[in-house]
Amino acid sequence: MVFKILIVFTLISLFGKTFQDCVYSDKSRKLFCRNTNFSDIVDLAIPKDLITEAHIIGCMKTHLGDSEIPFPNVQTLQISCDLQTLESDSFHNLQQIRKLDLSHNQISNIPNDLYQQLQNLQELDLSQNRLRNPTIDTLYYLNNLRDLNMACNRISSVDLGVLDQLRSVTKINFSHNGIFQLLLGTFDETKNLETLDLSYNVIYDMTTALFDQAPKLKELNIAANRIENVGLGALDSIKNVTTLNLSKNRISNFPLGVLDQLTALKNLDLSGNPIPLTLGLFDKLEKLVFLNLSYCNLNTFENGLLDKNKRLENLDLSHNMIATLEDGTFDDTKILKFINLSHNLLTRLPKNLFQQSQLVIVDLSHNRLNQIEPGFLSMEGLTEVRLNNNHLNYLDPEIFATIGNPLKYLNIQFNRLVYLEREFFDWIANIEFLEFTGNPWDCACFRQLVDLLDKRFINYDNNNEYFRGKKPVCVVGKNNTNCNVNKDDLDNYMNLFSI
Ligand SMILES: *[C@@H]1O[C@H](CO)[C@@H](O)[C@H](O)[C@H]1NC(C)=O
Ligand SMILES: *[C@@H]1O[C@H](CO)[C@@H](O)[C@H](O)[C@H]1NC(C)=O
Ligand SMILES: *[C@@H]1O[C@H](CO)[C@@H](O)[C@H](O)[C@H]1NC(C)=O
Ligand SMILES: *[C@@H]1O[C@H](CO)[C@@H](O)[C@H](O)[C@H]1NC(C)=O
Ligand SMILES: *[C@@H]1O[C@H](CO)[C@@H](O)[C@H](O)[C@H]1NC(C)=O
Ligand SMILES: *[C@@H]1O[C@H](CO)[C@@H](O)[C@H](O)[C@H]1NC(C)=O
Ligand SMILES: *[C@@H]1O[C@H](CO)[C@@H](O)[C@H](O)[C@H]1NC(C)=O
Repeated sequence: MVFKILIVFTLISLFGKTFQDCVYSDKSRKLFCRNTNFSDIVDLAIPKDLITEAHIIGCMKTHLGDSEIPFPNVQTLQISCDLQTLESDSFHNLQQIRKLDLSHNQISNIPNDLYQQLQNLQELDLSQNRLRNPTIDTLYYLNNLRDLNMACNRISSVDLGVLDQLRSVTKINFSHNGIFQLLLGTFDETKNLETLDLSYNVIYDMTTALFDQAPKLKELNIAANRIENVGLGALDSIKNVTTLNLSKNRISNFPLGVLDQLTALKNLDLSGNPIPLTLGLFDKLEKLVFLNLSYCNLNTFENGLLDKNKRLENLDLSHNMIATLEDGTFDDTKILKFINLSHNLLTRLPKNLFQQSQLVIVDLSHNRLNQIEPGFLSMEGLTEVRLNNNHLNYLDPEIFATIGNPLKYLNIQFNRLVYLEREFFDWIANIEFLEFTGNPWDCACFRQLVDLLDKRFINYDNNNEYFRGKKPVCVVGKNNTNCNVNKDDLDNYMNLFSI
């Protein structure tokens, strides 16, 4: 039996507006204080030199003077108050400290020599402050630092030499700043760097050879910047990268061969760039698992683009203008599990398009599909299909014809469907959820469908505006008591509803 000693100090202000308290656990030697006046924390009757972890959030303090933190043996310290200024000696007394979290303050300047006594520091979080450009002194002495977070500040440039002391650093986060350029040499001494987040800055150029001295770099995020050109050779210095995120830039120049050195790449996010796709572009990416090409203004996706990407599992092509796909396009991506083709201009797809893959989730919603060939979705592992918001007026029962079809979720909302044949459900016997409103169902067929779903305990979208009576669920058609619509009647129905 473990006894946990919890000492809770509650200091309720006179007006009872702010509830100020600290929680200290003797066993774990951790102190948590929230909205507590700093001088009250200093006065707390607890064994201060036992404390190894202190989290002080909201402490009404703007200046942290010489050795004011009263926990000499603290290893993890978080202070998120309204700190504006620090002194060189603010942490002078905290030589055991390994993790220092100063995020969510209003610090605009790091005094020189702040870390002189903090040689053991491994993690430093300075995010969400008002820091301006760091100087050579800002990060000095941090030879053992592993993790540096300077995200969400006001940094516009990182001068040469600023990072040179960070010989052990594996992760740096500079996201959400105003950095516009990185000079060759910036990362020459950070030889252990593995993860670098530069997203949400205003970088306009990929500096060639920038990472030549950082061979361990695995994850590089330059999303949401202003890069237009990625010239041949620009990415050659990140040979070992497994995740490259270039999404939300303005890349329109991305020449054939630019990715050829990235043979370790597993995740590539190019979404949100008007990128031209040349046959052969992805040919060297034999380890690629995830590829995001959504919002890329693509109006074609050529057969052959993915011929060498045999390990691709997840492909997002949504929000483009692709009107056709050739048979064979996905024949070599044999373990593709997820494809998103939603929000394109597809009208019809070749019957065997997906037959060589092992798709689990297919999203074809928001296209202009007017027909789906029988057998088109006859895949043994398919569990989720979205066909909503298309122009389908008929679904052949054989579309999903596979023995033991595992389909669990199907969305056919907002099409032009009038009826579904009973046999349709014979092939998708494992279905758990069907979304089908927003079609001009024949009323007798609609009732028959709901009846069937109820009897088979299949859930459906029965709590939306259609079922709550705000919009019509069906249209009175040929015979109000019996669902005896057949394929030949469809033209009449379409004329009748003039859809
Ligand atoms: C914090 O406590 C000190 C000493 O008790 C007091 O002088 C100061 O006004 C308090 N600050 C706030 C913001 O309540
Ligand atoms: C960098 O910081 C931003 C903002 O806090 C955060 O969203 C992002 O996940 C961080 N990046 C990494 C690699 O941890
Ligand atoms: C890449 O990684 C391998 C093995 O992890 C290593 O030997 C090599 O030096 C690294 N750097 C480059 C630039 O390939
Ligand atoms: C790329 O970065 C953007 C912005 O930070 C993020 O939304 C997206 O999820 C990232 N992509 C990947 C594959 O991590
Ligand atoms: C692909 O990128 C888009 C836009 O950046 C994003 O909305 C989408 O979630 C990403 N897809 C996947 C599967 O992560
Ligand atoms: C496909 O992409 C669209 C648009 O980005 C998104 O809304 C949808 O959730 C995605 N589909 C799946 C199954 O994730
Ligand atoms: C509706 O169908 C039933 C059975 O097929 C038939 O007996 C009946 O006459 C039909 N009613 C109309 C109005 O066509």
